[in-house]
Amino acid sequence: MAPIPRHGTVAVTGAAGFLGGWVVRLLLDRGYRVRACVRNVDDPKRTEFLKAMPGYASGRLTLHAADLDGAGCYDEIFKGCQGVAHVSHVSAYEDQDYVRRTCDHIIASVNGSGSVNRVVVTSSIAAIISEMDLKEIVRRPVFYEDRFPDELNPKRTPERGQGYSMGKLVAERAFAEAAAASGQWDAITVCPGDNVGPIQSAHQKDMGPWQHIIETMLLGEYRQTDVYRPWMTVDVRDDALCHIRLLESTEAKNGERYIAWSTDARNVEDIAVDIDRLLPELRLAPPVLVDAHPDRLKAREAEFRAIWARSDLRNDRMRAATGIAFRPLDESIRDCVESLISVARVTPKRRPVVEPSVAEPA
Ligand SMILES: NC(=O)c1ccc[n+]([C@@H]2O[C@H](COP(=O)([O-])OP(=O)(O)OC[C@H]3O[C@@H](n4cnc5c(N)ncnc54)[C@H](OP(=O)(O)O)[C@@H]3O)[C@@H](O)[C@H]2O)c1
Repeated sequence: MAPIPRHGTVAVTGAAGFLGGWVVRLLLDRGYRVRACVRNVDDPKRTEFLKAMPGYASGRLTLHAADLDGAGCYDEIFKGCQGVAHVSHVSAYEDQDYVRRTCDHIIASVNGSGSVNRVVVTSSIAAIISEMDLKEIVRRPVFYEDRFPDELNPKRTPERGQGYSMGKLVAERAFAEAAAASGQWDAITVCPGDNVGPIQSAHQKDMGPWQHIIETMLLGEYRQTDVYRPWMTVDVRDDALCHIRLLESTEAKNGERYIAWSTDARNVEDIAVDIDRLLPELRLAPPVLVDAHPDRLKAREAEFRAIWARSDLRNDRMRAATGIAFRPLDESIRDCVESLISVARVTPKRRPVVEPSVAEPA
């Protein structure tokens, strides 16, 4: 199927979110017309930053109310669009039938639009590597697009925390199958790593979760990451650009999935230290690490870290298809911290100023 036309019209779901907001902004920067879909257009806390974008003043950016839970919500919004960036979360991931229904709502609106020829669907690395048994990482340590979590593990259930990973795969498959059946559009999946980078609106500081964890570092106390997994990161701006370049790509084909991450991985406690290295002017008081793992997992910390250390993160496919040059994580951490302070008015906990000692006269 053809890519979307330059300066065409793209609808973005989850447009008030951390990633969706950057997809909107970069689409506008590249000359597109954008229909930003949010649940409540009248909530200033979530939409003011969109309305402040220059494209809103001219009318190139328009805001539309839509909730995935309602059938037909996107029917009118998608008519006349060539592209859809389906970035949003769903309301909950525990119920896979519900997740499938939300996909069906979007798919029906795409099919009925008569104009959409490409949909980029935001999945996650949780659809690549979410394992109930970490030995699976030892067996298959290369993290690339044709890797899937062990879906036959009987412990892989929403009750055991796998709903998000399962729901993302439900969505990936639902869109690819529907697009193939229609023959009118294709569905390309992006599987982003852990998004770090600047927030554009104060409400986004509580989302993420990565920018929120950085906020807690600024406030003095942060949590260990689950099963001691290092952050496997992508700058949120690069992630957004990957979405757009896949809408534009002449190479991408229906059903393909692309991982968006820089391959830069770092332990959470190193990130806490990095803030002081990158922004010594802040005089950040060293934040305290809270490890909320149960004792039986704490006892295996060294084993888990050794498993993660052996993993091999790949982004060959994304770089080849989009030509993207991923930013270094240092830049994402710095810009995240500065945005938390300047946009969300987070007040970092600081070390006291130590006056240089004056030498006593002999
Ligand atoms: N952040 C990461 O590190 C990361 C990593 C991998 C994958 N992802 C994926 O990237 C996407 C965006 O993540 P994010 O971090 O930007 O999330 P976010 O900041 O929490 O934004 C998600 C947006 O989803 C919208 N949403 C939730 N339920 C909805 C519903 N029932 N109907 C319509 N909209 C709904 C919300 O819209 P309103 O604001 O309008 O209520 C919200 O703004 C998600 O699909 C996520 O799974 C994120």
